[in-house]
Amino acid sequence: MKRIGILTSGGDAPGMNAAIRAVVRSGIYNDMEVYGIRRGYAGLINGDFVKMDLGSVGDIIHRGGTILRTARSEEFKTPEGMEKALKNIEALGLEGLVVIGGDGSFRGAIELSKRGVATIGIPGTIDNDIPFTDYSIGFDTAVNTVVEAVNKIRDTATSHERTFIIEVMGRESGNLALYSGVACGAETILVPEMPFTIKDVCEKIMSGFRRGKLHSIIILAEGAGQGFDVGREIKNITGFETRIIVLGHLQRGGTPTAFDRILASQMGGKAVELLKSGVSNKMVGWVKGELLVTDLEQILTTNKPFNMELYELANILSI
Ligand code: F6P
Repeated sequence: MKRIGILTSGGDAPGMNAAIRAVVRSGIYNDMEVYGIRRGYAGLINGDFVKMDLGSVGDIIHRGGTILRTARSEEFKTPEGMEKALKNIEALGLEGLVVIGGDGSFRGAIELSKRGVATIGIPGTIDNDIPFTDYSIGFDTAVNTVVEAVNKIRDTATSHERTFIIEVMGRESGNLALYSGVACGAETILVPEMPFTIKDVCEKIMSGFRRGKLHSIIILAEGAGQGFDVGREIKNITGFETRIIVLGHLQRGGTPTAFDRILASQMGGKAVELLKSGVSNKMVGWVKGELLVTDLEQILTTNKPFNMELYELANILSI
């Protein structure tokens, strides 16, 4: 394989740049030419390609976002969009493509591989909702971002003896809420995977205050409800002063943690190794400390199991 492309697609995630760097440098090390495709699949359709060299990925390992930009392309899902993309791929002579993103991005990669373009997926999303990998790039950084924010909220929550609801991202997944909730020592973690009643949530808050707790921190996954609705209901039932924070897109930014940089570097290096040995239609994951290669189709047909053990532990530790 002599010429490969790389793109980032869907929501950005801290560590994507480290993965781009790893793909570009490993590719060049293996005598390949590497092209960056800007704005995800939209760039494939528009022929928005840029030749990468060793220097083009210098000084980016510590930066959040993605130097290649990202987008969610509706046009790529149409037959006309796919045709335009394939024409550009052929004109440039791209034989392989590395796609960094979430499951939506992998759908596009599967379609390309069916049409003869070797594709390798790298999981990059703060949601950590991709199966066959313990972590996706950006998740660890996002967890740390939530923790940092909650550390600050705790100070004022204690001073005023208030209840705070912190709504975090994650789409349909409660992983970001669960992991950050455990790390913050949250009183309550609300996730879409586990049904809950507001009555039970209120009972827990009230019993906490009865035994002298100075505040209550509730981490709410966006997939489990809207912070302002949940907050209103809690205030109505308990009468406690309640404040709501929606952390929003600040969870997607910031310098990636060392963990995310190392994960991204390993996955990027592996993606090139796979393309070099003729492998296609696979995702590079990381399970129990080792890289794991899985069919992209399997990724789309399997739900990531929810970490029940951690959820139960969180409930025990927050009695
Ligand atoms: O998938 C990443 C994510 O940040 C989700 O957690 C969130 O629901 C969504 O993207 C937000 O998307 P947008 O940036 O388009 O508002």
